[in-house]
Amino acid sequence: MSTSSIEATGLSAALRSASRTSHGTLDKRIMAAKPFSSRERYADFLQVQYRFHRDVAALFANQELNRLLPGLAGRQRLNAVVQDLNDLDKTLPQNLDAPEFAEATDVDLASALGWLYVEQGSNLGAAFLLKAAAALELNADFGARHLAPHDQGRALSWKEFSAQLDAVELDDIARARAVEAAQAAFRKVHDYVHAHCQIHV
Ligand code: HEM
Repeated sequence: MSTSSIEATGLSAALRSASRTSHGTLDKRIMAAKPFSSRERYADFLQVQYRFHRDVAALFANQELNRLLPGLAGRQRLNAVVQDLNDLDKTLPQNLDAPEFAEATDVDLASALGWLYVEQGSNLGAAFLLKAAAALELNADFGARHLAPHDQGRALSWKEFSAQLDAVELDDIARARAVEAAQAAFRKVHDYVHAHCQIHV
């Protein structure tokens, strides 16, 4: 793809393209830990989700982001992850570093968009994970709440969110920060998987 066609691409497509390889290796690494082979292993995966969703949780209360991405406040999933851990009688990870975004204010908007792309996109792929969780008798009301689709349905919810992302006007420098942020978000999830999920052969 030429530079000019990358620039002409919508932000969501640019973020997808910049993070495709990292997403592919992440999927494989998570599945190599067999998260749906037992509730204990699934709980390890929940620790990853907790840390990732905690990193971005403050963004859902950011006023400017809610103006750019209407309905953002209702898309937060950290509370659902906490309930999932609670369902499985697991305590929250302790002594963690500060989350990536510790406050709802003073946020670099372009970086926030990159992180939110990764977080909201993960709900699109979660259809498959929710089905797999049924083998452990987990579902959208117990243990796998954070994998549930949005009320309007996964595909429509994603279509709406990615259109909102594409409508945000960013200059080239800000767009590069959004891309870097999406890549950083995936790297962070890789780190969490490395910390919490053993590979099982
Ligand atoms: C916390 C871990 C994960 C994150 C952060 C994540 C992130 C994402 C993102 C950002 C997208 C949207 C891509 C786009 O722009 O279209 C996506 C889609 C997708 N993900 Fe993941 N993902 C995760 C785990 C997984 C796992 C474990 C699987 C399965 C093995 C998976 C399978 C998929 C699939 C199939 C889609 C595309 C869904 C569709 O087009 O209908 N993801 N994910």
